[in-house]
Amino acid sequence: MGPLATLQPMMASGAMPAPGSSAPVAPAREEILRVEDLTVSFDGFKAVDALSLSVERNELRVIIGPNGAGKTTLLDMICGKTKPTSGRVMFNGLDLTRMSEHRIVRAGVGRKFQTPSVYEDLTVFENFEISLPRMHGLFQSLTFRRTAEVRKRIDAMAGEVYLRDQLGRRAGQLSHGQKQWLEIGMLLMQEPQLLLLDEPVAGMSPREREQTGDLLSRIAQGKSVVVIEHDMDFVKRIAHKVTVLHQGKLLSEGSAAEVQSDRRVIDVYLGH
Ligand SMILES: Nc1ncnc2c1ncn2[C@@H]1O[C@H](COP(=O)(O)OP(=O)(O)OP(=O)(O)O)[C@@H](O)[C@H]1O
Ligand SMILES: [Mg+2]
Repeated sequence: MGPLATLQPMMASGAMPAPGSSAPVAPAREEILRVEDLTVSFDGFKAVDALSLSVERNELRVIIGPNGAGKTTLLDMICGKTKPTSGRVMFNGLDLTRMSEHRIVRAGVGRKFQTPSVYEDLTVFENFEISLPRMHGLFQSLTFRRTAEVRKRIDAMAGEVYLRDQLGRRAGQLSHGQKQWLEIGMLLMQEPQLLLLDEPVAGMSPREREQTGDLLSRIAQGKSVVVIEHDMDFVKRIAHKVTVLHQGKLLSEGSAAEVQSDRRVIDVYLGH
């Protein structure tokens, strides 16, 4: 069991066995996210158009599709940044559709945007520290929470996201890829059950991509991950299942091999 596994919280839904029990773990196929007939219209233009999809627990789903297909807008609606015109987003039996972004985070959805957003003037350690849940304000976190336990958690997370040797550096001095990892680690500190990542390997070196692929695969052993990505080699390496969007609609869905050989996907996306 790697350090990340020890950081995984027990799932809140009761799907996991009680401590000490020898009951089997939850069935492999259990839905965590369901998007139902979701539409958002911007001045009459449907960026996402009657889209339905479902993601399972411990699934690593990749969303692909041409520019403007509605991929980012879909994540925006799941995390509450954009409100749909119609349809629903169900997460763990909870209707997220009208919930605030803040409440959606607390319900267990972590979202990473395309550009890294870390506190550049703080050290890597401090960035992790302020991302701990129930932190209210920077001052409080720096003053009161640097306990041995917090340090241990941060060390474990730093190791998980390849930043163990960087803890004392200012985040602003990290490479682009390291900032992406830091932000992923900061999201993980909040122990989300579902992680939404928008093109996390864009701008990364081949080696960093490989490490990120390993990281995402490890994360998906205890959480669900939805990743938007363009690089098909990367997609093939990590995806349990691929959803292809085109003009706001679901064009195709299946294994990476299945969607790659789907004529419609080749015509509108892969063939270009
Ligand atoms: N707030 C908005 N107002 C108006 N149009 C928008 C808004 N947000 C997105 N759009 C439009 O919706 C469409 C889908 O955009 P979106 O960013 O979801 O695409 P994408 O699939 O993420 O593309 P890319 O691969 O380029 O990131 C685009 O045509 C975009 O211009
Ligand atoms: Mg996008």
